Amino acid sequence: MQVAIQGGDTVIGLPDLSAVDRLGAAIAGRLTAGDAVLLRGDLGAGKTTLARAILTALGHQGETPSPTFTLLQSYDLTLPIAHLDLYRLKRPEEIEELGLDDALSEGAALIEWPEQADGYLPSDALTVALSSDPRSAALSGGGRWPELIAGIVKDAA
Ligand SMILES: Nc1ncnc2c1ncn2[C@@H]1O[C@H](COP(=O)(O)OP(=O)(O)O)[C@@H](O)[C@H]1O
Ligand SMILES: [Mg+2]
Repeated sequence: MQVAIQGGDTVIGLPDLSAVDRLGAAIAGRLTAGDAVLLRGDLGAGKTTLARAILTALGHQGETPSPTFTLLQSYDLTLPIAHLDLYRLKRPEEIEELGLDDALSEGAALIEWPEQADGYLPSDALTVALSSDPRSAALSGGGRWPELIAGIVKDAA
């Protein structure tokens, strides 16, 4: 697996779905209550695919409906997970009505289109910026994430 440092971000190639599964497992293994994972990237970049890989690694089985219209989908796993897709959020402050704070007090949140809630999301989040050409993920973060990212890409490689 190719890993590179680009402008402070750690970039890992994701040539196929098994690479996404490995990255998802590596992130899942480090999540604790209060963590937010911001999944950035254009339509088709692989945000939902990575969110599903994280859920699967945490033991979820069965459907993983994309929260395109519900905006938030909860999963009652060992670590409770909220999966959010903010594409249809009308105003950033609407995030406060979705129950994200409650979700983060119990578990972790995987958030697609975080730019839609700019200024309303935790600054100590892990950010995963996905690209489809070539398929890759750029990892960066606040809080304790900088020291965890090296281990994530090592596990995922
Ligand atoms: N690393 C990858 N390699 C190959 N196909 C991928 C990869 N990541 C995602 N895909 C595929 O790309 C398509 C779009 O992915 P999706 O996760 O729905 O994108 P997004 O949520 O960013 O819009 C899906 O068919 C998915 O299976
Ligand atoms: Mg999606």
